[in-house]
Amino acid sequence: MPVTTAMRERHVVREYLDTPLPDDLVATLRSHITDANASHGTDIRLLTGSARVFGPVWGPVRARSVRNCLVMSGPDAPDLDERLGHAGAGLMLTAQELDLNTWWVGGTFSPKAAARASGATGRVPAVVALGYGATQGRPHASKRPEQVATYDGETPAWFAQGVEAALLAPTALGKQAFTLTGRDRQVTIRCEESAYALQDRGIVKYHVEVGAGPGTFTWTD
Ligand SMILES: Cc1cc2nc3c(=O)[nH]c(=O)nc-3n(C[C@H](O)[C@H](O)[C@H](O)COP(=O)(O)O)c2cc1C
Repeated sequence: MPVTTAMRERHVVREYLDTPLPDDLVATLRSHITDANASHGTDIRLLTGSARVFGPVWGPVRARSVRNCLVMSGPDAPDLDERLGHAGAGLMLTAQELDLNTWWVGGTFSPKAAARASGATGRVPAVVALGYGATQGRPHASKRPEQVATYDGETPAWFAQGVEAALLAPTALGKQAFTLTGRDRQVTIRCEESAYALQDRGIVKYHVEVGAGPGTFTWTD
């Protein structure tokens, strides 16, 4: 599968319209969330209507327009953030296909408020605001493929597409602090150490997998 339209059109949007999500769209989202939780061992929950997850201290003024969000939670484990990143990337792109906008929030929210509002019992490393954006956002400044990726030998088309997709992914602070190295249909990803490295890792891996296409490569770790 090539790099998708949803990947190209998704940009962070931090301000939302008051327009409620239609019931059938909520049902579609919930069904995707159920599938994502089953395949990732997570407990992602959808809050609609008045998602008060930013808390009194962290809520930037514009975050007050957020009405709906995914509470990214799951039973605590060393790889929870990566699994949530992977599952969340898919859900963000599904939301984009449903004409919604999204905003991954790893820092400026209240995990306590998110857990309380959603009933999630596990750790909550992030929330993803979603809804009808006041704008569609705009493309982030991006590194070039050769700044993040190398392939040992002639670069196959699937690797180039995977890298292109990776560079469209959201990353913490827009840093794109990852590298991808390919060899013999195997790819290694490295993320610069940070509080968000594992979330970035899951999000970027998801994009590479979709961009490269099924059956084209395996991860080395
Ligand atoms: C792991 C992660 C954590 C993030 N945390 C925050 C955050 O705490 N606050 C915020 O305003 N944006 C946050 N973002 C959004 C990024 O700033 C945004 O995705 C990035 O600038 C790239 O832009 P794009 O989403 O348009 O591609 C986060 C994104 C990721 C992937």
